[in-house]
Amino acid sequence: MKDFKFSNTGKKLTSSIIRELLKDVSIPGMISFGGGVPDPSTFPRYELSEITQKVIEEEFSYSLQYGPTEGDDVLKKAYIEYLKKNEGIKGLSTENLLITVGSQSALFLLSLVLLDKDSKYFVSKPVYLGAASAFSMRSTNHIDLPLSENGIDTELLEKKLAELASSGEIKNVKFIYVIPNFHNPAGVTLSLERRKKLLELADKYDLLIVEDDPYGDLRYEGEAIPSMFKMAGKDRVLLLKTFSKVLSPGMRLGFVIGHEEFIRKLVLAKQAVDLCSPSLTQRIAGRFLQKYDLKELLKPTIDMYRKKKDLMLEELKKNFSDMQGVHWTKPQGGLFIWLTLPEGFDTMEMMDYGKKNGILFIPGAAFSIGGGCDNSMRLSFCLPPEKDIVEGVKRLKQTVLEYGKEKGLL
Ligand SMILES: Cc1ncc(COP(=O)(O)O)c(C=O)c1O
Repeated sequence: MKDFKFSNTGKKLTSSIIRELLKDVSIPGMISFGGGVPDPSTFPRYELSEITQKVIEEEFSYSLQYGPTEGDDVLKKAYIEYLKKNEGIKGLSTENLLITVGSQSALFLLSLVLLDKDSKYFVSKPVYLGAASAFSMRSTNHIDLPLSENGIDTELLEKKLAELASSGEIKNVKFIYVIPNFHNPAGVTLSLERRKKLLELADKYDLLIVEDDPYGDLRYEGEAIPSMFKMAGKDRVLLLKTFSKVLSPGMRLGFVIGHEEFIRKLVLAKQAVDLCSPSLTQRIAGRFLQKYDLKELLKPTIDMYRKKKDLMLEELKKNFSDMQGVHWTKPQGGLFIWLTLPEGFDTMEMMDYGKKNGILFIPGAAFSIGGGCDNSMRLSFCLPPEKDIVEGVKRLKQTVLEYGKEKGLL
């Protein structure tokens, strides 16, 4: 291959398994539990279409022009109201918000302004791949915290922080990255007790918590748990929200909510990255929030996803409860279930068996930096129609049996 003189970062970039896998989605008859994309039938297309026409015809001098790097004030003000009404977050001004090109670009901006080569940061294991990619552009010194039904292991965090403090390395620790609700890929939620413990530890060691919450609005049952941002405020927590899973990922709108000085620093970094988020989609979303109650509009979406989630859990129970050592998470919201097979199963290797049987899933190793999670997989229930969920779980069972027998694991 021609030597393009790529940087060391460039040289390290490789295609992700998820990307590769998405290519197989178009094979006729294939059922995919792979991608975490919302069901397009949930997009409020008629409402958005009507607003878009107005925003282009009547507000073209704003919506078709460059906008401020910080984001559109119309959207910011509407979103501040949304957060106050739906999450009980008060006291925010427009200076506490930055509008980004989805949360993914927020993660990259954070990586730019927080991480040096020798910086350390805490992430969960399994980890959201997009965050891992954004952070590792700057530093690969992640410290993993295993997940259970109640979220990351705060006891282990306490132990590791104490060790880092005694070795003097704590000065290099920059943040703790957490997905509090319906984790991607694990589907679990950080309990209130653990949120409190996390805040206590962050206070003790003066650490920032990055609270990445794309799924909090997609709760299907149970009581909502307050965000750590609401509990501790902008000095301690940076909250990341996005419209990708509740309005439209194609609009590419994310929000960073934090201390005004931190936001200003991110704005400077964003100027170098993309100048501004799209004025057009920001203004459309701003007018949309002014006109409609997003929370109300989400109700049918929530009903549909709840049904799909319950169906997948039921089918998993039907097909796998007779297999020893197989277990899965039972999310109260979001888009994902994390299934774990007995030791010895390698879900990466099993993918080819799955493909042959017409079923796609994402192997656990795709969510693990530097190995691990080999016997787990992420199953997404949001996109396939109900009949495909039933058939897909059957195909998955068949795949597990075939692989297990061939490898002498069953
Ligand atoms: C935990 C988490 N953070 C961030 C993102 C990025 O989303 P977007 O850039 O579409 O807002 C995702 C997308 O799946 C996610 O699951």
